Amino acid sequence: MGKVLIVGSGKVANVTARKCCEQPEIFGEMCLTARTKNRCDDLKRELSDSRTKVISAAVDVTNPDKTLLTVKIFKPDLVINLAPPHLNLKVMDICLQARANYIDASYYYPKGSTACGLKEQLSYSGRFEKAGLTAVVGCGFNPGVIGIFIEYARQKLFDRILSVDIIDANAGKNGYPYRMNSPIGKNIRELSSPARYYEAGEWKSAEPLEREYAYSFPEVGRSEMYLLDHESLEHLVAVTQAERLRCFGSFKKPFLTMIRNLQCAGMTSAEPICIGGVKISPLAFLEEVFPSPQDLASETTGKTGIGCIISGEKDGKARNCMLYSVADHEKTYTDLMSSANDFMVGVPVTVAAEMILSGTVSAKGVHTAEIFDPESFLTRMSDAGLSWKEKAKPSIIAD
Ligand SMILES: NC(=O)c1ccc[n+]([C@@H]2O[C@H](COP(=O)([O-])OP(=O)(O)OC[C@H]3O[C@@H](n4cnc5c(N)ncnc54)[C@H](OP(=O)(O)O)[C@@H]3O)[C@@H](O)[C@H]2O)c1
Repeated sequence: MGKVLIVGSGKVANVTARKCCEQPEIFGEMCLTARTKNRCDDLKRELSDSRTKVISAAVDVTNPDKTLLTVKIFKPDLVINLAPPHLNLKVMDICLQARANYIDASYYYPKGSTACGLKEQLSYSGRFEKAGLTAVVGCGFNPGVIGIFIEYARQKLFDRILSVDIIDANAGKNGYPYRMNSPIGKNIRELSSPARYYEAGEWKSAEPLEREYAYSFPEVGRSEMYLLDHESLEHLVAVTQAERLRCFGSFKKPFLTMIRNLQCAGMTSAEPICIGGVKISPLAFLEEVFPSPQDLASETTGKTGIGCIISGEKDGKARNCMLYSVADHEKTYTDLMSSANDFMVGVPVTVAAEMILSGTVSAKGVHTAEIFDPESFLTRMSDAGLSWKEKAKPSIIAD
């Protein structure tokens, strides 16, 4: 039986903690931590029927000495880091000092930057290896399962992968004319950034929202997809050696109109302005007044899905397929008080934790999610309630 300490008690941690508690024979003890201890206590109360022994503690990882003390007292085998990604290196440092294995769900970003810092996380590999520890970074859905889908395709379905299109249907309905998959600030940054993609062996870029495509996602339905940049692309280019890699996300038109109007009104600027002697950035104000995806989870209905369309060659013939997962918002809320989106991140994190604790992954050092055997990972993911499918000859996104 293993001991896990979860950093963060937000949307994804809510799913991961509940799913871990379904396997007390693997997750014997769990410590829930965040700066706001009340949230950890609320979740702990809801898990009180579990045979996993759950405790909670207030932790601010920007205070490494105090955090290290808590971690050293609990002595976890594994730290599951589900705090914002700019804190990843701090938590990795703490794991090295406390001699705990490590996983997270997102690649590192310096605070306020859009530059993905995966390389900085991988540069810890020597230190983790020397300490006899395993760290796996980016174990959510994207990054995470998408890389595992691609690895599965590389091992089982293709001799050569030529192109990958990642598709996030981001679907579902609530009481608003829009649906957000992320906090509003993150969506605004995503929609205002150039859409970077890889084609014919080089990086290219389109204007934000310039490329729009109608796409019918299996089991979810038709929506408008937009070419977007994504933190996982650079790494996947290296892993697949594909000639083309693109990422598409869906946003509803009323949401895009609202964002454009807010941009015109200057409301999306992060630059602070002075109102009545108080300095505040319009974006920070928006983040404060907008409902969070968590607040909207209970009202959301319908299904969402994420997957990738892979094209390449097998036995000298061209082939393509789509590997994807779909989840239902109402079901995940009833089962786990979670949106389908967070469920699709929290389950792979749990599977990654289970595979490390059970010794299925013995490689020391820092790795990305492709270190997991894809077939075992995907089987365990289905067993944990998040199934995946392979669709031959899927509809493709035309150029
Ligand atoms: N790979 C994927 O597909 C994918 C998709 C979605 C999200 N993610 C990642 O999953 C992780 C969790 O996302 P989420 O949506 O659950 O975030 P969230 O709801 O905002 O939760 C973040 C948690 O971190 C805690 N936290 C913040 N600063 C902290 C600090 N200094 N010390 C300790 N705890 C701190 C927060 O609580 P307090 O404020 O009380 O401290 C909160 O409980 C993030 O890294 C996110 O990027 C990955």
